[in-house]
Amino acid sequence: MTADQDKAEALTYALKQFVNVCDEAEALVGHKPLCATEVDYEELVQSMLPQTIDPQSVQGTGLKQLQHLVEGCKKCRLSETRTHTVFGEGVIPARLMVIGEGPGAEEDASGRAFVGKAGKYLDSWLGAISMSRETNVYIANIVKCRPPENRNPEGDEVAACLPYLKRQIQLVKPQIILLVGAVACHALLQTPDGVGKLRGRFFRYEGIPVVATYHPAGVLRNEELKRPVWEDLKKVAAYLATPLNGRS
Ligand code: URA
Ligand code: SF4
Repeated sequence: MTADQDKAEALTYALKQFVNVCDEAEALVGHKPLCATEVDYEELVQSMLPQTIDPQSVQGTGLKQLQHLVEGCKKCRLSETRTHTVFGEGVIPARLMVIGEGPGAEEDASGRAFVGKAGKYLDSWLGAISMSRETNVYIANIVKCRPPENRNPEGDEVAACLPYLKRQIQLVKPQIILLVGAVACHALLQTPDGVGKLRGRFFRYEGIPVVATYHPAGVLRNEELKRPVWEDLKKVAAYLATPLNGRS
């Protein structure tokens, strides 16, 4: 038996004793037993014991720790060509979390998300619904390192990086998520459908409402996408303006 098993057994025994003593005392004063239903003491004890923590695991990390893990990450080949990792930035807890694809050249050079031409355009979208990364939005990407020549990230790169984003979402606690571009939609909603098919309705990710729209870089190349994006932004703003949905 390992030391941990010894500890768990002793703790289980102590807990049972404690509950028994409490129940006896309650019975003396004519109250109902403390635990009317059967308790799984072993399971309870397992949840109380410190878990063996893998230093690379994202579970239980805070945002600073998570960023530190990303900065040292070599889980996929994108680590070989990056200049900086791009973790994401903004306000926590966020009203809105915007999730893009991955860093471009300016982001790779600066280490900051959405700071190039597409990023400035995204900022103007947010401004149009009175939001910003300085006041109530958090901005991040599916992959934290730039794919060479801005190619789409490969499936294995997305899979390697996604645990960071998932933990980030838990920590950022957005009221709503806006996915920009097909790569973000495919990764988070696990569907091969294009944005044209996905936009215009609400999805859920871990209970959080999700709206999909086009990527700002795509809209810069195709003016016709401006109107649908504006509709999607209005949907986000309307959701947040509904009192029951927001902390405001
Ligand atoms: N495009 C993205 O998807 N993310 C960035 O951070 C910059 C450009
Ligand atoms: Fe690690 Fe993600 Fe960068 Fe790949 S893209 S090296 S998984 S941080």
